[in-house]
Amino acid sequence: MVEERYIFNQQGKEIKRGEVTWKSPSNIALVKYWGKKQNQIPANPSISFTLNNCHTLTTVKYEQAAEPSFMVFVDGKREEGFEPKIATFFKRIAQYVPFVNALKLEIHTKNTFPHSSGIASSASGLSALALCVVSIEKALTPSMKASYFKEKASFLARLGSGSACRSIYPELVVWGDNKSFEGSSDIVAVPFKGAHQVFKDFQDTILLVDKGQKVVSSTVGHNLMHNHPFSEQRFAQAHDNMERLKLALEEGDLKTFTKIVESEALTLHAMMMTSNPYFILMKPNTLNIIEKVWEYREKHQLNLTITLDAGANVHLLYPKNEAEQAMQLIKGTLVDFCENKGYICDEVGIGSEEIVN
Ligand code: DP6
Repeated sequence: MVEERYIFNQQGKEIKRGEVTWKSPSNIALVKYWGKKQNQIPANPSISFTLNNCHTLTTVKYEQAAEPSFMVFVDGKREEGFEPKIATFFKRIAQYVPFVNALKLEIHTKNTFPHSSGIASSASGLSALALCVVSIEKALTPSMKASYFKEKASFLARLGSGSACRSIYPELVVWGDNKSFEGSSDIVAVPFKGAHQVFKDFQDTILLVDKGQKVVSSTVGHNLMHNHPFSEQRFAQAHDNMERLKLALEEGDLKTFTKIVESEALTLHAMMMTSNPYFILMKPNTLNIIEKVWEYREKHQLNLTITLDAGANVHLLYPKNEAEQAMQLIKGTLVDFCENKGYICDEVGIGSEEIVN
């Protein structure tokens, strides 16, 4: 379906040349997006924390050209390996931003997290690129409203990678139509502003269990939710968890938060283990970490919460006032289960930002 609202309708405006830069963060889902319909429509709603330290910085240099073309540079080096994914992105967004077909682009991008950390860079990378594209559109239509700017960036980012649409906004972000969050939508993400204070500076320490390439990509995993024996129950459960999590977020109910978030992470991996073909992305050390966290949480009556994305790394979520005890556990025990003792300290962040030189 074509979404008229997001079609650029000022064709014929002359583009000269220019340069735009955006910084966009990664995000970690609390209720997971896993399974999609045509045109990047999610099979169920999701909600995530926008992160802060793990982000992508992208500069797009553009100039008018008879033939469209683009080149991608990562950390200053040409990376042709990234170009097919970006070519697909441009193909999907062209009907909404037709001016890209009259541009020669140089895309310069760098991540603050190591490329080989096993942390997905598609959310931060594609959201940063989508923001740059909308900045070019804004250069053509200076009257564009700030709220429409972000909305369109979220819309375009979604077409590149589903989870990327949530990285545009700060703190807690919802994507996927559901009855619990007013204004939620399948085609753009929306910020959720009603959370309790405790969630504003929540911490996320990413324990790098395995820095290698994933054996099964998210895209393949999403597809395996078609004809999955448990998909209908799973999609219904996600709606239910959105409703329960909203209440916990509003009330600052950390116990319920933990229960829902951990159940979501394990359900995500259960879906992988029960698809056809089945696969396992967790590693023995993923389970070792989970076990240690649960033991320590019980012993010290804390709210440490684990979640996983589509990989072996463990995200350890906790309120800021438990940071000291969490770091004791991490440095004293959990690092031994991480590849080269690697971990990244992150926290809830303010979302994407334009960098003006
Ligand atoms: C497990 O957004 O990477 O992280 O839309 O195919 O690019 P594509 O998938 P992607 O899937 C993310 C899946 C997840 C859960 C989540 O972030 O909600």
